[in-house]
Amino acid sequence: MATVIVVGAQWGDEGKGKLVDYLTHKADLVARYQGGHNAGHTVVIQNEKYVLHLIPSGILHKDTICVIGNGVVVEPAALIDEIRGLRDRGIKVGDNLLISKNAHLIMPYHIALDNAGEKMRGKKCIGTTGRGIGPAYVDKMARTGIRVGDLLSPEILKEKISANLRNINFLLKNLYKSGGFNSRKILNEYIGYAKILKKHIADTDLIINNAVAAGKNVLLEGAQGTLLDIDHGTYPYVTSSNSIAGGACTGAGIGPTRITKVLGVVKAYTTRVGSGPLPTELFDSIGEEIRMKGGEFGATTGRPRRCGWLDTVILRHAATVNGLTGIAITKLDILDGLDKIKICTAYRYRGKTYSHFPKESDIFEKCTPVYEEMKGWKGSTLGIGEFNKLPLQAQAYIRRIEELIGVRADIISTGQKRDELILLRDQF
Ligand code: GDP
Ligand code: IMO
Ligand code: MG
Repeated sequence: MATVIVVGAQWGDEGKGKLVDYLTHKADLVARYQGGHNAGHTVVIQNEKYVLHLIPSGILHKDTICVIGNGVVVEPAALIDEIRGLRDRGIKVGDNLLISKNAHLIMPYHIALDNAGEKMRGKKCIGTTGRGIGPAYVDKMARTGIRVGDLLSPEILKEKISANLRNINFLLKNLYKSGGFNSRKILNEYIGYAKILKKHIADTDLIINNAVAAGKNVLLEGAQGTLLDIDHGTYPYVTSSNSIAGGACTGAGIGPTRITKVLGVVKAYTTRVGSGPLPTELFDSIGEEIRMKGGEFGATTGRPRRCGWLDTVILRHAATVNGLTGIAITKLDILDGLDKIKICTAYRYRGKTYSHFPKESDIFEKCTPVYEEMKGWKGSTLGIGEFNKLPLQAQAYIRRIEELIGVRADIISTGQKRDELILLRDQF
């Protein structure tokens, strides 16, 4: 009986989906706690690949309850598409999927505002996924948001849509010079979604806490990653939610005293999609090799991911702000065959060395990484299931990462597939 948070330690796409699916073997309930369909979590079982966006990555285990928590922003059409896509492939999505009444809805005007805002920012754009995530969280904080529970009351829904559109249509027309939205049309569309989603809507905070009280194993699945967190990431080049472990408490409605472990997912190198600083970014053939070999193209938008060496400065930051109890190092196999592997241990800026993540965005943007170089390994690590079967240099790389971050490796992932990993410590 344990409650484990799985959190991205870098800029997202660390392999959280694979880990959550694997850990779900022992979990009774899996909950997403923030973000929305900006996330793309990949699970590969034999030769079948699934990309989950809003539905927790535990859904492929038919006896596990999957919860979309209150901290998530839900685009109902995307959710319905995802449910249907899974059902078409024979996956059970019925009473095993629950959506919090308090989760906020992404409305069509949020998507329009997201894209119009990005266009207006021009060169300074964030490179969002264009899914309406930011504007939906803006409405939540402004206390004008519409929640999943409102889908159950057409009168309330109607009133809220009309009230919001008075401001939003003004903005769209006068600031962004684009078309507005018709409130009746949106209302009818969302009433249609309500009919389909109704049976999944629940008081999920109670359900999660009851599961914990009953001694069940609960998994809390983060989306994005620590450096995309609205408070602790590379602001303003971040997403609009608390993706760190603390977000699991608010976003699922569970107290900090109930959390037993926090597993940080660390890709064996660094990637980032969208704009914003990435100190260890590679612009040479090694960066390209890693991108191609690692299939580093967005699971949601298909955009090429920027690739670089492992950065342990940001990982120490992730260890601190998440209170990591362990890490899962993923995609070790992608580094197979490299002659040399670099690890960033600190940054240099104007003659000063920084071993902690600098909060000043100008320092982080302009700093140069301080590297330590290790010998690569010749053999393949793909699919290796035992630590002592890894090439010695690969073992040394893992040990050095643990040392530099100060957190032990609990899992090492050596391939895309479900069971391609080394389990060093159980989470449950
Ligand atoms: P997430 O958003 O954190 O769930 O990660 P994504 O699914 O967006 O991206 C991770 C990608 O790496 C996916 O294509 C996974 O199938 C793949 N992956 C995960 N772990 C491993 C691994 O250990 N080795 C390899 N080769 N691929 C992996
Ligand atoms: P998973 O869960 C990687 C990035 C976007 C952009 C920034 C803000 O698969 O790891 P948003 O649409 O959220 O307002 O975009 O955040 N981003 C991600 N990058 N993985 C993700 O999710 C991401 N979700 C958002 O590229 O830079
Ligand atoms: Mg992803």
